[in-house]
Amino acid sequence: MQNTQDRVKIFALGGLDEVGNNLYVVDVNDRMFILDAGMKHPGEELLGVDAVIPDFTYLIENKAVKAGFIYRMASKYYEQAIESEVTLADIDEKDHVLCIGGGICPFSAILIHQMTGAFVTVIDNNIKCLPKAKKLVKRLGLAEKIRVLYQEGDSSTIDFSQYTVVHLALQVSPMEQVMLAVEKNMQPGTKLLIRRPKKQLSSIYSSLTEKLLSFCPYACHKGRNMGSTVLYIKPETKALVKEYGLVA
Ligand SMILES: C[S@@+](CC[C@H](N)C(=O)[O-])C[C@H]1O[C@@H](n2cnc3c(N)ncnc32)[C@H](O)[C@@H]1O
Repeated sequence: MQNTQDRVKIFALGGLDEVGNNLYVVDVNDRMFILDAGMKHPGEELLGVDAVIPDFTYLIENKAVKAGFIYRMASKYYEQAIESEVTLADIDEKDHVLCIGGGICPFSAILIHQMTGAFVTVIDNNIKCLPKAKKLVKRLGLAEKIRVLYQEGDSSTIDFSQYTVVHLALQVSPMEQVMLAVEKNMQPGTKLLIRRPKKQLSSIYSSLTEKLLSFCPYACHKGRNMGSTVLYIKPETKALVKEYGLVA
């Protein structure tokens, strides 16, 4: 540390309510140092998984917003997935897309806009993500096309009448609660893209939701954390939702 003006943040990205999976970060004036990073042995619920490692997304996104080449490399990771999501939901420049869970570096929102010309609003419930996300969008010259807001994904204050497509990031939490609240509040005909984890990690939905989603078309994402994206289109009548007793 140089002087008393230095800003030091110490936080954990894993290992707090669990044994293993440690990831402690010391952030000095936006430079990050990792103190400890450890894996965890998976429990019975993760059959087929050899080791659980901490989630490095926050660190990668922090690097990506600062360095153009890391942004471009990390963006590649999302490209194919976004291409198949855009095709699945047939998104074009007339759409207004709401991306729930943009993070520090809203790759998905940016790529959706770049591939389709659609106006995108991206929200996150972590206020700390906002300044960096807004700065990146501005740096890319997209501030007129991508709006970044601080908002809860299942908030009743979201005006769904303006959105034709809603996109849920994989790490949105609690996923099922957010998904059901969005489904309840969005207009009939609105398309909902729901990213789903690989099969062995997919216990985040109840069996009722699994049944509802099993009717929907989907796109598979090979070799990624995300297993697939499901497209749910809200019916004119709520018959399907009622049949399965899904109420937010
Ligand atoms: C790590 S990001 C991943 C998104 C990735 N950058 C992308 O472009 O697809 C996931 C974000 O979802 C946000 N998030 C999780 N649950 C949420 C919720 N209920 N409402 C809004 N944002 C949420 C987290 O704060 C986190 O920043």
